Amino acid sequence: MIEFSTSVIILSAGFGTRMKSKIPKVLHKICGKEMLACIIDEVSKISDDIHIILYNEAELIKQILNDKYPNNNFHFHLQNHQSYPGTAGALMKGYGENPKDLIDIKYHKTLILSGDMPLVESATLQDFINSDFDITLGILELENASGYGRVVLNDDKVIEIIEEKDASLEIQQIRFANGGIYCIKKDILSKYLPILESNNKQNEFYLTDIISLARNDNCDILGIKAKEEIFIGVNSKIDLARAENLMLDKIRLRAMKNGVTLRIPQSIYIECDVEFIGECEVESNSVLKGNTKIINSIIHSNTIIENSIIENSTIGPFARIRPKSTILDSHIGNFVEIKASNLNGVKAGHLSYIGDSEIDSGTNIGAGVITCNYDGVKKHKTIIGKNVFVGSDCQLIAPLTIGSNVLIAAGSSVSRNAKDGDLVISRAKQENKSGFYYKFFNSNTKEKK
Ligand code: UD1
Ligand code: CA
Repeated sequence: MIEFSTSVIILSAGFGTRMKSKIPKVLHKICGKEMLACIIDEVSKISDDIHIILYNEAELIKQILNDKYPNNNFHFHLQNHQSYPGTAGALMKGYGENPKDLIDIKYHKTLILSGDMPLVESATLQDFINSDFDITLGILELENASGYGRVVLNDDKVIEIIEEKDASLEIQQIRFANGGIYCIKKDILSKYLPILESNNKQNEFYLTDIISLARNDNCDILGIKAKEEIFIGVNSKIDLARAENLMLDKIRLRAMKNGVTLRIPQSIYIECDVEFIGECEVESNSVLKGNTKIINSIIHSNTIIENSIIENSTIGPFARIRPKSTILDSHIGNFVEIKASNLNGVKAGHLSYIGDSEIDSGTNIGAGVITCNYDGVKKHKTIIGKNVFVGSDCQLIAPLTIGSNVLIAAGSSVSRNAKDGDLVISRAKQENKSGFYYKFFNSNTKEKK
């Protein structure tokens, strides 16, 4: 058992107005995962006392987290936003006799971070926790620190933090930004929170104001220089895209380190929960989403795969594998769409829709085959046995069960089940009328002969 020593508080009560979205900011996703969940996954490695501060859309956020982490023991707090707005207000009880007191936490130290920092990593958080200073904070050195609070340093000594909105032009030139992550001793927080005021441009209780108070009292303050790749704060859709690009770089590097071949990696989108096992290759412009598992397979260019398992198979180019599909020992070619289907040892080379199907080994699906799985009300299944040859351009009208070793003639509309060994043919009989062409065109146009 790991022994934990630090409580974690994640600030997620803000409005995220700059996102210009109905979705609360911390629920916006980076590579398929809510920003708040990205943080929770990392802090869970370093603490068992996790506090999440909510206000805006509190019930929705709580419900999503409880669904995602069914056995969690998170402590949810509702910030008294009307009376105590701001990042320090978020840490206050908000109600009762001493509303400015610190919320109840378990350990003597607390790591405080914002719900909009999706790239934090437990290894870096560990450095904050290990520090024995009264206050340890993350500092970013940036070309342009706009959007962040500025950290005033004297040599390496942290003097104070000034929020951008309250900063003079001179302060705005400072390139040291407050990363918005702090490890603070509980007694320090308990001492300073109640004396904070909100007399600033935003009329908010700023957590950052604790720094200058603590500095005046000669507390030890440590600034840890950190990279924006880890501490980026997402306030707008532009930041969201930047953070997602940084996360993608991490995911792709990790995959390549584990032996996955990526062709033009920067064009490939891979979500957080995608897993590669064995020797895999992914070509340019492919999109791999959700809980997808790729095992010893090749994904050709421009292919989209979502929540599916692909093993010992080649997929694409230009294929789309929709959720709940399992494709084993198969070849899926261009313009084939597969949904909620299990294919085991199947070839479907061109232009097909295969939905709600089970298809067994040795079966060939010809070009243009469509499983008609939806009757306008319900979805139905198509089950196909082994070594079936489905000729091109067939419609398989579900519910349908085709045995093994069945030959289905090209162009058939199949609505009745077939037994092992059957030939299935269902199409209008062809008639050829000799010489008809010349008769028809001579009487209709002068030019054609
Ligand atoms: C904050 C810091 C700033 C720092 C930046 C880093 C303050 C006053 N400013 O600014 O110095 O450079 O983060 O990214 O701390 N929140 C609440 N309750 C509130 C207000 C905010 O829980 O009343 C939460 C938000 O949901 C968010 C976090 O606190 O997750 C930070 O709030 P935000 O408004 O994004 O602060 P910044 O302006 O980015
Ligand atoms: Ca922010």
